Amino acid sequence: MTLGNASFNLIFSLENGLCPERESSKRHLSDVKNIFYDTAEAEKILAADDQLIYEFYELPLPQDDGDLAFGTSITYPGTIGDEYYMTKGHFHSILNTAEVYYCLSGSGMMMMENSDGQWECRELSAGTALYVPKGFAHRSINIGTRPLVSFFCFRADAGHDYKTIASQGFRHLVVKKNDRPSVIENPRWKAQANDD
Ligand SMILES: [Fe+2]
Repeated sequence: MTLGNASFNLIFSLENGLCPERESSKRHLSDVKNIFYDTAEAEKILAADDQLIYEFYELPLPQDDGDLAFGTSITYPGTIGDEYYMTKGHFHSILNTAEVYYCLSGSGMMMMENSDGQWECRELSAGTALYVPKGFAHRSINIGTRPLVSFFCFRADAGHDYKTIASQGFRHLVVKKNDRPSVIENPRWKAQANDD
């Protein structure tokens, strides 16, 4: 059923971010193992357990430029080596489109960067709204011990470009160092840049 041609409401649990009436899209480690820089550790963990890394909603909403797409994103706590669980991250296909995230629970960071190499990493905690400017790829990272739950909303026709980040990565990563999050340069991004 297509939503959005008439008013409607949906429940997203304040406890876990899930919508009981809708099926979420799930990303297990087997789906996203290549986003983590320690690929050997990702393979080792995957051999033991194909963990759920994150899930989110892709609601069947109309996708015209006057429509809005929204849902929740739930990134689970954990690490692959010293790198926190995170989402793949994406640009919008229509690059000139922003997005708002409102964190409902957990604690995390949003990594953002544009194609000119400008980047920012901002904290997300319950009650924080975060504006992702147009032109910036974005990735949620869970730095806490509970699920990181955010509500998001963006222009419905913006679309997703996952390929650019999948092939080049983000310039910076967030890793756990002395039990605290630390932003480092992405060794794989640099290696790829040097290969060019
Ligand atoms: Fe987005």
